[in-house]
Amino acid sequence: MSVREVGPQDLARILELEELCFGAEAWTSSMVAEEFGRSGGIFLGVGHPLDAYVCGWAIVGELHLLQIAVHPDARRRGLATQVHEALLRAAAPHAEYGWLEVKVGNAAAISFYERLGWVPTGRRPCYYADGSDAIVFRLPSLAPPTTPAPKTATSSPR
Ligand SMILES: CC(C)(COP(=O)(O)OP(=O)(O)OC[C@H]1O[C@@H](n2cnc3c(N)ncnc32)[C@H](O)[C@@H]1OP(=O)(O)O)[C@@H](O)C(=O)NCCC(=O)NCCS
Repeated sequence: MSVREVGPQDLARILELEELCFGAEAWTSSMVAEEFGRSGGIFLGVGHPLDAYVCGWAIVGELHLLQIAVHPDARRRGLATQVHEALLRAAAPHAEYGWLEVKVGNAAAISFYERLGWVPTGRRPCYYADGSDAIVFRLPSLAPPTTPAPKTATSSPR
């Protein structure tokens, strides 16, 4: 499935996924609508209806990853990795590094971000409605990792 832009036509599905993925901390309709119109905002997803989406804000040289979510039935299939990659590609012309907050108990998200090169750099106490701290993660560079050049054969095939 290819990554596409997310817009107002996806609002109902996003609210459904927000509820499934974040419960009491789900974004409200007006919070989502605000992201559609934000200057520097990037809102991308996969699926019709959406199975996964990511929302970020690239401004004054930095990318703030605001939200990423995958339907519970579609997890561990690489969808979050796919939309994350697309977000970095879209933000790269406008941002050098990234940052985000994640709830201290969100082991899946922490593992996901660390795998993609995000580095924990700080903590915001009582950041969430339930009193949990946030861990602040930073992505040092939005440039894709350089892939090593393919090995050249040292002897010719017979
Ligand atoms: C975190 C989340 C976005 C990951 O989505 P996903 O599509 O399942 O992620 P991917 O399939 O791309 O996973 C990539 C890697 O992340 C890590 N990861 C993902 N889910 C994990 C889990 N439940 N436990 C441990 N590691 C996990 C793994 O390293 C995984 O690689 P692997 O499957 O080869 O082991 C998804 O679990 C989700 O929507 N969670 C609820 C919303 C949320 O917490 N968002 C983050 C807010 S900060």
